[in-house]
Amino acid sequence: MQGLQRLEYRGYDSAGVALSAPGMEQVAVRKKAGRLKNLIEDVERNPMPAATVGIGHTRWATNGEPSDVNAHPHASQDGKVAIIHNGIIENASQLRLDLMAEGYRFASATDTEVAAKLLGKIVDKIIAEDGAPDLFKAVRRLARMLQGAFTILATDCRQPGIVVGARHDSPLVVGLGEGENFLGSDVAAFVAYTKRAMEIDQDQAVCVSANEVTVTDFDGNVVANPKTFTIDWDASAAEKGGWDSFMDKEIHEDPAAVQRTLLGRFDDSGAIELDEVRIDEHDFKAIDKIIVVACGTASYAGQVAKYAIEHWVRIPVEIELAHEFRYRDPILNARTLVVAISQSGETMDTLMALRHAREQGSKVLAICNTQGATIPRESDAVLYTHAGPEVAVASTKAFVAQITAAYLLGLYLAQVKGTMFRDEIRQQVDSLKDMPRKIQWVLDTQTAAVEQAAERMANAQSFLFLGRHVGYPVALEGALKLKEIAYTFTEGFAAGELKHGPIALVDAGEPVVFIVPPERGRSVLHTKVISGIEEVKARGATIIAVAEEGDKDVQRYADVVFWRPACPTLMSPLVDVVPLQLFAMNMAKIKGYDVDKPRNLAKSVTVE
Ligand code: F6R
Repeated sequence: MQGLQRLEYRGYDSAGVALSAPGMEQVAVRKKAGRLKNLIEDVERNPMPAATVGIGHTRWATNGEPSDVNAHPHASQDGKVAIIHNGIIENASQLRLDLMAEGYRFASATDTEVAAKLLGKIVDKIIAEDGAPDLFKAVRRLARMLQGAFTILATDCRQPGIVVGARHDSPLVVGLGEGENFLGSDVAAFVAYTKRAMEIDQDQAVCVSANEVTVTDFDGNVVANPKTFTIDWDASAAEKGGWDSFMDKEIHEDPAAVQRTLLGRFDDSGAIELDEVRIDEHDFKAIDKIIVVACGTASYAGQVAKYAIEHWVRIPVEIELAHEFRYRDPILNARTLVVAISQSGETMDTLMALRHAREQGSKVLAICNTQGATIPRESDAVLYTHAGPEVAVASTKAFVAQITAAYLLGLYLAQVKGTMFRDEIRQQVDSLKDMPRKIQWVLDTQTAAVEQAAERMANAQSFLFLGRHVGYPVALEGALKLKEIAYTFTEGFAAGELKHGPIALVDAGEPVVFIVPPERGRSVLHTKVISGIEEVKARGATIIAVAEEGDKDVQRYADVVFWRPACPTLMSPLVDVVPLQLFAMNMAKIKGYDVDKPRNLAKSVTVE
């Protein structure tokens, strides 16, 4: 149950467990719709039998509505085998028809039940062939018959000493304990028990007992030395530690996320070293285009980095939503560096985009927050963000860490390609190193203003977020946060676009959030954004501004201001996003929503 609690952020519309022990006639299954606590309460009221192995699941419905019956695990016809499954089985309908024709009955609408019934049938066939059940062999046979994406774990009450898993396009890791072993979608499931973990690769199956772990391919060939690694954070990092919510805790970790991402990246002379990057300098020098592939918040981090990298390295940077990328025949070659940004490292859309890029001969560099995840494993190089585990579904500290890592990559490329002087690079690095302190200032001094603003705006039906230059992706990110956790209809626009359409939405009292660039008086950008503010103010809008301390122009027009300390324009997203994260969180709390687990969303989107 503790393991499931730690994974609940991946999906939380139903949960269930299946247990096996010697002497059981059937696998003991219990499952409940709703949050995991429903299942825990049910098991406390009516305890389950003692067992030697178990599998458990928290679900984010893809196939069949959230209900007791559709929850996992699903059992075979005779109840002796049970499975849990992540992903989508694309040939489930045909398999279901075939099984129904043979007299199998289905209780649920899920593809998982089809796999469970089929696995039961395969085990029966193996018993007929070999005289004994062999769950490992059966799961491999099943895996070869399934199309789509899946991680499957299975238990059979006739073999109560093992759990068998298989994966194709969906994550699975093993936790290596003393006299006990674990399987999980990610290491959070078992980090409280062991920090030693083993990677399971694409199209591999694994059989785990208390003392042994065997990995094979789907044909049964044993994998000689599966890669193991040590988890570099402990269970307390994934606990609330006195905070009201994970989101609150994680926003307050923004400064540390930037700081840790910068750690250990500079040699004695201050030059940038990307030691986790295994692309050689010669290849880096030849790069003449960057394409960032990512989704949601991670794509906005990429969009911020575009402004910096193009300015520093003088090569074009394109940002592509990962799910659009491979379907439009993108122009790629060996001189294109594809940068995949992903907090979880498991986003299927991003994974598919990077596979496509590699097939076309491009090198892929992953910016990722999760050790051993699929995206970094399948990339040519990795730049880990060291933000620590992000548990709240809405991404916060990962965003600032992703910008920091992408900036480091930009400065490294500038160094290798010689597009900046050493001193200029050092100056940018110093600015970056100064940002954790500035973010902390925002957290220390602006929180009360943000809370008051949220109280004042709690009943607003919609918001507009506007920014220019790097403020534009920050506006998009601020808008996304408010949509996903406060369920408020919100749009982000480039401020210059206002007069080309969106200004028609502005009416008396409409709240409009402006990200005002720094460099007051010296920057054309600043002047232009102030003109935008004047235009919407004239139409009666309520203005909320994120602006530099002491900005008199802003003070004149804005109804509410969240101040930032002075910083260079390219660094400003790292501070500007912070009050917007806090604002969305406060709006959601005032409305009584669960800020860590917004409706309909899951933390890792492992389906396309
Ligand atoms: C928003 C959010 C999502 C993710 C997106 C990509 O708060 O969390 O938009 O940013 O699903 O996820 P990763 O970074 O795990 O690939």
